[in-house]
Amino acid sequence: MNNFSQYYITSGIHFDAKRYQTALKTKYIGRSFIYREETESTMNIAQRETHEGAATGTLILAERQTSGRGRKGREWVSETGGNLYFTIIIRVNPQEPLHLLKLNFALAAAIVQACRDEGVQETYIKWPNDVWVKTNNSYSKVCGMLIDSVQTQEDLSANCGVGLNVNQDMTKLKERIVGNIPTSLYNELRSKVDREQLLAKICNALETLLGESLESVLEVYKGYDILVGKQVTVTSGTNEPRFGKAKGYSKFGNLIVKFDDGEEKELLAEEVSIRTV
Ligand code: BTN
Repeated sequence: MNNFSQYYITSGIHFDAKRYQTALKTKYIGRSFIYREETESTMNIAQRETHEGAATGTLILAERQTSGRGRKGREWVSETGGNLYFTIIIRVNPQEPLHLLKLNFALAAAIVQACRDEGVQETYIKWPNDVWVKTNNSYSKVCGMLIDSVQTQEDLSANCGVGLNVNQDMTKLKERIVGNIPTSLYNELRSKVDREQLLAKICNALETLLGESLESVLEVYKGYDILVGKQVTVTSGTNEPRFGKAKGYSKFGNLIVKFDDGEEKELLAEEVSIRTV
């Protein structure tokens, strides 16, 4: 479904799909565009659309999600506030599992490139695919990603969900958020960001990166990394946290950590945080 002729107005916040389209330079990413003022989760719409044969690159954007999902079953608070909550459907060849891997790195790198292009230079990737901003030697999360694999009768689809804090003042969430307060591009720049341009920039960067080899995308990804060389805490499920130093990446993009007890390990899905003391 292409909705480019529409101009969306939602509680004073509008998404101008025409301006987005004008800035879009891609062949397939974001070309097919579905917009919802409110939905449970763009991941659910993406799943339905995947089964109904949506074209690769289809992008579903919502102004607000009532059941936004984060990684590891966490909630992703998705209020109306001028952020970007979207899912891109990417059809992948099941015979080429490395394509999925490349997508992981390319998506995070594309977000960093777009944020830096908006003027937030100190934007980095925290493995595996969080995007954080560095301010005065501390880091705050600005974007999270989650990729659902959806198997259809014909193929496999990687549905890439992105929650990027753009124009919401995250400091107002202080009372409601436990732990680190996330940031937004607005909080960093102290001015509003053009969401239409930003979304188009993300799509443009993602398509360019997907056209490159896994090795070169991984190089770009590593160039944005914030963990290597840092003392880290690694948590796996309900196990006790372990301490060590992030040493680098394997050729498949797994983070290698040397623990304080001497063990060196490639991480797969563990939680990693930077140790400040
Ligand atoms: C994370 O835990 O860091 C990942 C957050 C992913 C949130 C996005 S918002 C758009 C899409 N729809 C969802 O329900 N989740 C993803």
